[in-house]
Amino acid sequence: VKRVPLLAGNWKMNLDHLQAIAFVQKLAWTLKDADHDVADAEVAVFPPFTDLRSVQTLVAADKLPIAYGAQDLSAQDSGAFTGEISGSFLAQLDCTYVIIGHSERRTLHAEDDAQVKAKTAAAVKHGLVPVICVGETAEDLAEQGPSAVPVAQLTTALEGLDSSADIVVAYEPVWAIGSGQAATPDQAEQVAAALREVIRSVLGEDAAARTRILYGGSVKSSNIAGFMREPNVDGALIGGASLDVAEFSSIVRFQ
Ligand code: G3H
Repeated sequence: VKRVPLLAGNWKMNLDHLQAIAFVQKLAWTLKDADHDVADAEVAVFPPFTDLRSVQTLVAADKLPIAYGAQDLSAQDSGAFTGEISGSFLAQLDCTYVIIGHSERRTLHAEDDAQVKAKTAAAVKHGLVPVICVGETAEDLAEQGPSAVPVAQLTTALEGLDSSADIVVAYEPVWAIGSGQAATPDQAEQVAAALREVIRSVLGEDAAARTRILYGGSVKSSNIAGFMREPNVDGALIGGASLDVAEFSSIVRFQ
């Protein structure tokens, strides 16, 4: 199975409506100028909710080779959940993806593995591809080694999913996020291989072979190639470096 690399930019709470439009247009021109082929690497952006309608319009109007998704969703379909966003709304905006369980959600919004599991199920139900984020803190790393926490997080998130579910997994060591201190490609590979085993044991061989596992945490144009050489790393989830069109484009053209 050939897994098409996925280079995904998580904007977090950056780029407002007009900035998002300018960014996506400029990204599209840059990729076109570079003759970027989406068959070689898929490009995705994850803007704030309020940007999604404009991104949808822009991408659809010019058939841009840029996928997009939201940074979170509700586990519920609809109802009295003030401030929440349903997966059905995201599906109507033609989102392909939705990030689930980012460490900032887990830490700042106390999302636990049970919620991540419920949100993963909701995403799949609405035809969205969940980008399930897992990763250990520096403390976890010191106490339990690199794989224990991400493996446990992913095992719970995948419980009850159909083996045909289309998912993406992002391994983001919390200590590497926004710190400028990325994991080494070896470290990323070791955990990615363990996560692929989890997919194999919960969802089966086919799912393990086709599912893309991303690395995230201080990825930039100068270190992306090392990660992409690893057999179990199929792309990256990029925060800070995804906010600059030139930098993000050169990450996308990692070869
Ligand atoms: O979702 C992206 C990650 O949190 C990585 O962020 O590239 O700024 O370290 P970063």
